[in-house]
Amino acid sequence: MRFIPLKDNDSVGQWAARYIVQRIKQFNPSTDKPFVLGLPTGGTPISTYQELIRLHHKGEVSFSNIITFNMDEYVGLPTNHPECYRVFMQRHFFDHVNIPEQNINFLNGNAEDLEAECQRYEEAIKGYGGIELFMGGVGHDGHIAFNEPGSSLASRTRPKMLTTETRQANARFFDNDVNLVPKQALTVGVGTLLDARELMILATGADKCRAVRASVEGAINHMWTISALQLHPKSIMICDAPATLDL
Ligand code: GLP
Repeated sequence: MRFIPLKDNDSVGQWAARYIVQRIKQFNPSTDKPFVLGLPTGGTPISTYQELIRLHHKGEVSFSNIITFNMDEYVGLPTNHPECYRVFMQRHFFDHVNIPEQNINFLNGNAEDLEAECQRYEEAIKGYGGIELFMGGVGHDGHIAFNEPGSSLASRTRPKMLTTETRQANARFFDNDVNLVPKQALTVGVGTLLDARELMILATGADKCRAVRASVEGAINHMWTISALQLHPKSIMICDAPATLDL
């Protein structure tokens, strides 16, 4: 695992965005094969999206041949709800770059058959030959995507009940009312994340320091799914200074 300690949230965003751009540029320049990128939502990646947009407007990167797969989606939120992850991604990233609509892949949290929807997503990822680089954040309790404590480290894309802690953490996006936060989500599994050829996790803020400790110093275990990073042959953990306080 590469561990990249940086000063603050902006530095994390800049480092991550530049790394993504560099990887896109290095990727098979001689063929038309698209670069498949896994993406997260949450507060942490916003500075990365801002930097990617800036670099795009400077002409340093094009997203016309990028395929994206977002890692998770709430179940049952109206598709125009501002906190629906698809809407979040439009607002913070997709609306500002030249990615074709048909290149964006999302789990449908309103699908009639949620299990079948998750299966479809796994097949779609496979159809593109897998994910080249998966970027993610981490929850206070060490969850990656919505792989809550207790998730199998071999788990695949599936519906998942959210823990009270996660719902409380995400209540800040729902008028601070935990009752408005959906109880269930669809999420790629830990196994799905580990299958990506590269896995890059961002952690910022002192409230993430226990999760960061679990990811680099803790034993690999299903109660801190972030610890699965240690199983990946090409993983990167990028942190700001407050997130390293417990190391
Ligand atoms: C949610 C998302 C995760 C994200 C986590 C942390 O639970 N499903 O993918 O990593 O929140 O979010 P934040 O970056 O806002 O702290």
